[in-house]
Amino acid sequence: MEKIKIISVTSMILLIAAFSIYTKCDAKEDGKLKDKKIFLPEPKTKGSVSVEETLSKRRSVRKFQDTPLSIPEVSQLLWAAYGITEKDGRKTTPSAGATYPLEIYVVVKNVEKLKPGLYKYDSGGHFLTNIKEGNFYNEISETTYQPQMCKSAPMIFVITAITEKTTSVYGERGIRYIFMETGHSAQNISLQGVSLGIGSVLVGAFDDDKVAGVLSLKNGEIPLYIIPVGKTERYK
Ligand SMILES: Cc1cc2nc3c(=O)[nH]c(=O)nc-3n(C[C@H](O)[C@H](O)[C@H](O)COP(=O)(O)O)c2cc1C
Repeated sequence: MEKIKIISVTSMILLIAAFSIYTKCDAKEDGKLKDKKIFLPEPKTKGSVSVEETLSKRRSVRKFQDTPLSIPEVSQLLWAAYGITEKDGRKTTPSAGATYPLEIYVVVKNVEKLKPGLYKYDSGGHFLTNIKEGNFYNEISETTYQPQMCKSAPMIFVITAITEKTTSVYGERGIRYIFMETGHSAQNISLQGVSLGIGSVLVGAFDDDKVAGVLSLKNGEIPLYIIPVGKTERYK
């Protein structure tokens, strides 16, 4: 009887251990594709380049090296853009009334372990969802007036906003707040990029309807910034 008890307790412990290892791998395996979700590694909150240094070095970069970005680099840039930094959901970017109207997309051409396609960032879970697989690079580049510049980047951010999230609280003035918030997010991407040796340029000159078409945006979601990013010698 005693022997049976010991065996069943031991098997219970083994079962619990196996289950916890399984769930840990399932939730956190970085870069793993599951249900079209790509879980990203934890972002770093300490680095070796100071804010002052990033401010003094930052320049618009319009030509990029032909080098892939890595998943940790993409993770860090997305976190800088709109990552969660507080248990209550507040983010790297300030937001009028914490209404958080922005959506962050990336069009991928050359990122290690990521298939080319269109992805959307989920800041709550710090993962990317693959919205469409395929090469949308030319299409998104052609929505701008400098397509060749965009085509040389391994990845392109597109920042959009669901305006109702902020205008429902602040009325028409909310539109102004959304533009301000987009600037904060874009600046975060630029400065985080400098510290990683990644250049960027903030592009405002594009055809709104064409961008909405490439991203299949619904009514009420507007494109605000296109930001090609890629490795550059400039920040070495
Ligand atoms: C709102 C805004 C829109 C911009 N749009 C474009 C653009 O469409 N194409 C481009 O090449 N640069 C664009 N830029 C980048 C500026 O040209 C650039 O910041 C400026 O020349 C100063 O150079 P710097 O960024 O190297 O300091 C834009 C910048 C801002 C703030």
